[in-house]
Amino acid sequence: IASAREAARTAPTLEALRELMQTFEGCALKHTATRLVFADGNPKARIMFVGEAPGRDEDIEGLPFVGRSGKLLDLMMGAIGLNRTTAYIANVIPWRPPGNRTPTPQETQICLPFIQRQIELVNPDVLVTLGNPSTQTLLGTREGIMRTRGRWFDYDTGARTIRALPTFHPAYLLRSPSYKRLAWQDLRAVAKVLS
Ligand code: URA
Repeated sequence: IASAREAARTAPTLEALRELMQTFEGCALKHTATRLVFADGNPKARIMFVGEAPGRDEDIEGLPFVGRSGKLLDLMMGAIGLNRTTAYIANVIPWRPPGNRTPTPQETQICLPFIQRQIELVNPDVLVTLGNPSTQTLLGTREGIMRTRGRWFDYDTGARTIRALPTFHPAYLLRSPSYKRLAWQDLRAVAKVLS
């Protein structure tokens, strides 16, 4: 287990990383999930969105954000002229947790080197963390999304610092649509940095 995670740290390409994850046996979630949900979008994109974990639809299709939340994420990206050919999308956890339960801290820690390496390899100019689990895991804060959203953070890859902006997870916006206004405000801040 330790060696696969070590190898992930130096996987030379996204394809090599994906293969490593396909053969990785150290995360229990893999054994209940249908398949690996690695990423979608353009690996050369200047912007990367990171969610929490695949749900039912993603587990079936093998792509992130293809269900109801994904439709809203597409609208959010569209609001600033982005789509899956100009953005890159992944999750902190690449296997669906049973019944969509929240991943445990241990599962999150086991999978962390995989998303960290993915971010390094894509090397975007801007990272958008969607919701608390992604924000807290990647940006090392314990503050909740109400306090972190719309605030710029530094994501340090070791080689480089990437600007990171937390915003609401689309699943949360589906439940609480009144926060869409703030989410769209965050997206405009992202667009400004990309322009
Ligand atoms: N929610 C997420 O966090 N990620 C997905 O891929 C789908 C729903």
